[in-house]
Amino acid sequence: MSDFKLPLTEKWVSPSLLSADFANLERDMNALAAAGADLLHVDVMDGHFVPNLTIGIPVVESLKKVAPLPLDVHLMIEKPERYIEGFIKAGSDYLTIHVESIEKPADVLRRIRELGARPGITLRPGTPLSAVEPYLALVDLVLVMTVEPGFGGQSFREDQVPKMAELKRLRAEKNYSYLIEVDGGVSDKTVQQCADADVLVAGSYVFKNDLRSAIRKLKGLA
Ligand code: DX5
Ligand code: ZN
Repeated sequence: MSDFKLPLTEKWVSPSLLSADFANLERDMNALAAAGADLLHVDVMDGHFVPNLTIGIPVVESLKKVAPLPLDVHLMIEKPERYIEGFIKAGSDYLTIHVESIEKPADVLRRIRELGARPGITLRPGTPLSAVEPYLALVDLVLVMTVEPGFGGQSFREDQVPKMAELKRLRAEKNYSYLIEVDGGVSDKTVQQCADADVLVAGSYVFKNDLRSAIRKLKGLA
């Protein structure tokens, strides 16, 4: 598991494997690591919380056996408490749950840490930041969704940008220690609006371009 100390010296990039070739995930993970990625973002969807089906526990377990980087697992599923143990045993390093998907997020976030993973919390674009505020002391990561969860390749929602600034302000004010992550429509065109994020998730932008130059552009190195 990659440890972090805030502030990060440079932004982390967590490419979404949703845009990888599912018949060649090991190859694509290695290519992403060689191209300078920091984490690997795994989008788990159950066809209920979001209208799409993707990756489940057995696939995460197989990915972990060969993954060259920590797995940043984003659960878009109903009642995630049923599956967190499975996803952690399978090898999730960061495990992020949606605040809308669960009645008692605090219990689940504590359990994720007890089971040995780093807990994260996230929210749909339509959910106000106040919904996650009670849990900020419990998490290592807060994910700001800049698209409606469910599909890659959507447009970045600028109206979500203030959430990143507010999370940064709250972190400084209350001495919290979470990473601020942004997910959805992140590209060389929108990354300037993510100045307050520490971790950039990007799927279609990274995979539609040369991996190395795309990751360097997101990090502001090119
Ligand atoms: C959407 C997922 C994202 C998505 C990102 O539900 O959480 O991780 O795959 O893809 P792009 O970068 O194409 O918006
Ligand atoms: Zn995601």
